[in-house]
Amino acid sequence: MSQNQEQAAPNFYYFLCNPGSEKFLKEEIRLIYPELVFAYSTEGFVTFKETRRLGKTLRPVFCRHFGRFLKRGSLAEVSEGVGKHLFYSLQGEIFETYPYQNGDWVTEIIKVSETQYYLGEFKASILTAPSAGGFSTATLPEQSPSRAYLKVIDGMNYMGLKLPANDYALEVGSSPGGATYALLEMGLRVEGIDPGEMAPICLNHPKFIHHRESIQDFHVSSMKDHVQWLYVDMNLPPEGSLREIEKVVDAIRPSLKGAFITLKMTKFELVSRVPMYLNIMGKMGLKVVMATQLPSHKQEFLVYCE
Ligand SMILES: C[S@@+](CC[C@H](N)C(=O)[O-])C[C@H]1O[C@@H](n2cnc3c(N)ncnc32)[C@H](O)[C@@H]1O
Repeated sequence: MSQNQEQAAPNFYYFLCNPGSEKFLKEEIRLIYPELVFAYSTEGFVTFKETRRLGKTLRPVFCRHFGRFLKRGSLAEVSEGVGKHLFYSLQGEIFETYPYQNGDWVTEIIKVSETQYYLGEFKASILTAPSAGGFSTATLPEQSPSRAYLKVIDGMNYMGLKLPANDYALEVGSSPGGATYALLEMGLRVEGIDPGEMAPICLNHPKFIHHRESIQDFHVSSMKDHVQWLYVDMNLPPEGSLREIEKVVDAIRPSLKGAFITLKMTKFELVSRVPMYLNIMGKMGLKVVMATQLPSHKQEFLVYCE
């Protein structure tokens, strides 16, 4: 517990999510952390008050970053006496940042509006995002076939991973190819499964193989190598995605190093099923390490498994 934490009561927590996901986050907190009661929200920012002691670790899925509220006010008021800190706005303007490590207590100032600033703190961990506000530090190359390029880079950064060149990746739902392009750029060899067309920049790449068919029609025996990294990004409801990848996971599990599985929130009611999805992955023999929203996500979230 930090020094600040011992002094303040009751606790308030703030969460930064992608605009449009506030409703998912509120529902997740209502269902899983009933000790927290909704207090305030504006686009991409939701706060909750701790009404009973939160005797468990917060692992929210529908946010990029969260922390404990200390105070709010003008910039001068919240900055008073504050040492090294992060300072950013809800729109992703980063005014001050510095590298921090897991285990560090980090203080931050968040510009919520022209007149309202929040001072907060968090203990850096795999759960709190590696960059200020959980905003992306990647830029989308002009030649990338889609924005999914950013999902690969953000996911790797979030997990603190570097994928070795020449490792083998399989992407299910690979068209038009932003994610594949990111993997090829890192030197990986990639097989993509998707009935949709791949952009020429991927299709003509010597390290890429396209299985132009749906995952339902795909035979695992046609995979060319031992897959180390699995990417899944199909526009199907989560139940469908999980059911369809089971045969692939079964075949590649011995060589698998990590799986980045994007699940789409095709309807609001799915929030209550998230624990079940994580459970299904566990039953497939995957170890769920982390489930989170990435800055490049729309109405979806990432589950990273090993
Ligand atoms: C969000 S897009 C994927 C974007 C892609 N990862 C990229 O990097 O550009 C979803 C893809 O899922 C594919 N898809 C949907 N159902 C599928 C299925 N049953 N088997 C394989 N791919 C499927 C669609 O054809 C679509 O290209």
